[in-house]
Amino acid sequence: MKLYFDDIGKGKTIVLIHAFPLSRKMWQAQAELLAIQGFRVILPDLPGFGKTDTAKHFSIREMAKQIAELIESLTIEKAIIGGLSMGGYVSFELFRLIPEKFSALILCDTTQLADTVEKRNSRFELILKIEKQGSDALIENMLPNLVSEDTKQNNPELMTELKRIFTNIDPISVINALRSMAERNDSSELVNQISVPTLLVFGEFDKVTNLENARMLNQSISESELVIIEKAGHFSNLEQPEQFNQTLLNFCNRIEFND
Ligand code: MLT
Repeated sequence: MKLYFDDIGKGKTIVLIHAFPLSRKMWQAQAELLAIQGFRVILPDLPGFGKTDTAKHFSIREMAKQIAELIESLTIEKAIIGGLSMGGYVSFELFRLIPEKFSALILCDTTQLADTVEKRNSRFELILKIEKQGSDALIENMLPNLVSEDTKQNNPELMTELKRIFTNIDPISVINALRSMAERNDSSELVNQISVPTLLVFGEFDKVTNLENARMLNQSISESELVIIEKAGHFSNLEQPEQFNQTLLNFCNRIEFND
């Protein structure tokens, strides 16, 4: 199986990995800006999402292997690599697989910690609901926690778009990814070994992966900086694109690639 991906712009490469249950399109605003600023942006669709159409189950590590193969096939020597939430889980595995390819790391609204027993059980309960009800169950059970109150009140276009995506996504892909997230590795040990420049970006009101943990990550990674996106929840780049874009661009402009 080959991952579908967008390849936008020319210059130093940035690979951005999407969140659950979204696709490469969540990075559209960032990719457009970075391309104008002289970067090449690679946006893969993880298995089952966007245009990477598969009913097969992939663990988070297997998803990372797919991205490693993509980076290899494009003969990319070094890249800034990162992701948001599930995209961050995949980035940790990717760092285990191909650390030499990272000129820098970007972790947005994500966690190095594996699921607690409680969280894992809640994922399996959600899987049962999706089996009965379809992907619509995500709207009631996940969406309220994914965005801030400010977004709910002031960004009806984004809310409508997220509901559309959640309604239309194939339940098999949702179930597969929920299982993969529930079974993912803990990366607490790994973060102590990350020595590349790392940008941590978290929404002020992220209820899925919280600020307390973001601060812990910032302490564990030797060369990291933490930026908090005001008024945003978990989907910080979609909720406050201007603040997010400025942060991302400032960081990417400072990274040396040495390739
Ligand atoms: C995501 O945004 O990728 C997911 O909500 C992460 C999770 O459920 O752990």
